[in-house]
Amino acid sequence: MAIPRDFINELVARIDIVDLIDAKVPLKKAGKNHSACCPFHSEKSPSFTVSRDKQFYHCFGCGAHGNVIDFVMEYDRLDFIDAIEDLAGQLGVEVPREQGTGPKRDEGLSRDLYQLMEEASLYFQSQLRQHNDKQKVLDYLTHRGLSNEVVEHFNIGFAPDGWNGLLGRYRQNQDAQDKLLTAGMVIENDNGKRYDRFRDRLMFPIRDRRGRVIGFGGRVLGDGTPKYLNSPETPIFHKGNELYGLYELKQRHRDPKQVLIVEGYMDVVALAQFGVDYAVASLGTSTTAEQFQLLLRSAKEVICCYDGDKAGVEAAWRALETALPLLKPGNQVKFMFLPEGEDPDTMVRQVGKEVFENQVNDAQELPEFLFETLAKRYGSDKGTLAKQAITLTEKIQDTVLQSLLLENLAYKLGMNGAEELKRKLGFSSKEQVKPLQNKALKGRGTPLRLAIALLVQHPSLGEGLPEQPALKHLKMAGIELLILLLDETRVKVKHSAQLLEQFRGDKQLSTLKKLTQWDHQVADENLQQEFRKTLIWLNNQYIEQRYQELSLKQNHTKEERIQLTKLISVIKG
Ligand code: UTP
Ligand code: MN
Repeated sequence: MAIPRDFINELVARIDIVDLIDAKVPLKKAGKNHSACCPFHSEKSPSFTVSRDKQFYHCFGCGAHGNVIDFVMEYDRLDFIDAIEDLAGQLGVEVPREQGTGPKRDEGLSRDLYQLMEEASLYFQSQLRQHNDKQKVLDYLTHRGLSNEVVEHFNIGFAPDGWNGLLGRYRQNQDAQDKLLTAGMVIENDNGKRYDRFRDRLMFPIRDRRGRVIGFGGRVLGDGTPKYLNSPETPIFHKGNELYGLYELKQRHRDPKQVLIVEGYMDVVALAQFGVDYAVASLGTSTTAEQFQLLLRSAKEVICCYDGDKAGVEAAWRALETALPLLKPGNQVKFMFLPEGEDPDTMVRQVGKEVFENQVNDAQELPEFLFETLAKRYGSDKGTLAKQAITLTEKIQDTVLQSLLLENLAYKLGMNGAEELKRKLGFSSKEQVKPLQNKALKGRGTPLRLAIALLVQHPSLGEGLPEQPALKHLKMAGIELLILLLDETRVKVKHSAQLLEQFRGDKQLSTLKKLTQWDHQVADENLQQEFRKTLIWLNNQYIEQRYQELSLKQNHTKEERIQLTKLISVIKG
């Protein structure tokens, strides 16, 4: 059955492309159009534009182009019909179907696979209630302490023992049997004999972001091996692109503040049962870039949770390396380690929601974990440590975070800033430092430049801010301008134009004008946070400078001694 052309036209007319895209990829107004970094290829400065007049998007970088339907198809990776259904759903209307002629609704391979997988999931769930062996499964669930509610919420089921519990349901339907094979639910041996893949196992359906069942994890009811049997890669299941529990999480939180990545199915389920209902599992692999991207799109903060043993720390390190190049301003990735031998499932049962969440809140921030791990690994070999740290930080695209890490590192090694650090390590400043600076200028610039740009474009950021006495003593080219702007904006909020007016005739005016136009790429909701970060960074710079200054001095006055002690405690703390 076809979808009437008129209906499709109406959808395109009624859904505004700017609103639609902005909800998924925050847009910034740029002249008549809106722009952002392109979601379809990786880039540092925005070449993706959206036009409200034309109701089209276009990327000058990769050539992606289209209307609302194209966007949903591309971005959410949906086929045409699903995209229409998605858009109609956003308007709260049903998709009408035309009888008779016209192109037939796409009954392609994928659609049948999804349908079969859903049927399989319903079958496994029914076996949990009906099968003769159900008691041993229910006993196992009790033994694992899983409540009925959570079993239902995650649609956990039971694949009975035997070779054709599932397969046998399609005895008359060769086509369906073939598709079960494609979907990985059935195995064919060398003699061409087919049988169920999952037998005598507790079944966890894995759903994609739209809630369609795409695979399963099956656990033995006891100690057999393999402990978990998973669906193989199929046309609809790509393990590295999916996260167990993400759909269920989104059912509960449309816009989660944070997401916890854990290792196992049982961990996600047990955490949800105890009210920690924002965990997902990476399906037994180490977390991939695609999985991180998926998560960072859903939540600003991602906490990776591991066992505190050696393997756990190694897995966390791999996650750090994967996440570094993906971090955008405002993103946070943290690391949390459980006592050896515990996993989130056993932990939350032991300590309960509140204590567990305190541990989540105490998770280590990325820079801290990075330096701690390098220090453990390289000990007193400061040279190697620094080289490793620099190699890692160069992968970072968020230049504020990058500068922060480098300065932090230089400081830890007792050097005077990142420049000295690089010089000492024999990085020629031409080869190593320049590209970094160039990149910074094209991207988000130094923290000072970012602070000035944010303030001049959003003067309300300075409103009511406490005075920043340390900045007045900071030795840094350009800092006076920031101080002036802070003074201007603190008491009386002005818009950018008013602010610039104060600088008429001033030699700084042209710099300010440039920064007014500069695309700082910080999303509106992150402005405050990013601005604060720059101020913290600048204050830390002062602390460092002053510490260096005082520690080089021979004879201190009483005040200087007190200050030095304070500085040491700030720095070491
Ligand atoms: P764990 O061994 O930590 O399992 O494996 P678990 O989740 O704590 O399970 P319980 O508590 O013993 O029931 C973590 C994850 O690694 C994958 C699964 O995704 C599992 O959830 N895994 C593990 C497999 O795919 N196959 C296996 O044989 C074991
Ligand atoms: Mn476990």
